[in-house]
Amino acid sequence: MKNVIKILTISILASVFVSCTSTNEEDYFEDPVCDSALVDRDTIVVYYDDLTYIFSGICQQCHSPELTYRQGIIMDSYENVVSSINTGKVLPAIMHEGSYKMPNNLPKLSDCEIQKIDVWIERGMPENK
Ligand code: HEC
Repeated sequence: MKNVIKILTISILASVFVSCTSTNEEDYFEDPVCDSALVDRDTIVVYYDDLTYIFSGICQQCHSPELTYRQGIIMDSYENVVSSINTGKVLPAIMHEGSYKMPNNLPKLSDCEIQKIDVWIERGMPENK
């Protein structure tokens, strides 16, 4: 009887371990930049290209040049993203620390994505590889 419990415990622990590691691998293959940024933010390099899926794909639908009433936050091109970020309002908004929580009424960006943007700003917002 003792052995049965032992084997059960080991197999439960083993399956928990396997399911955890496989989730990490999935994340890694989905977004290697993001994954290494979380591991070591001192060596990671992020370029504008790595972030366009966020700025153009998510933010631009409400922050396009036509929507001039959005407090000057325009997310359609490299130049406009840089000047929007230079207002100092973007990081607090995506970290949900300011009066506005962005993206508005949509799920918060992942910790990885926020960290990527943070690292990119810290390195002077490089455009190209
Ligand atoms: C569904 C629409 C929508 C999306 C998507 C969206 N925003 Fe906004 N954003 C708004 C609205 C509405 C405001 C309020 C300001 C206004 O309209 O005058 C705003 C305001 C802001 C502000 C100004 C905050 C301040 O303190 O003045 C920033 C910065 C901002 N958004 C950044 C972003 C970023 C970065 C993204 C993408 C991650 C994003 N937004 C996505 C609708 C949106």
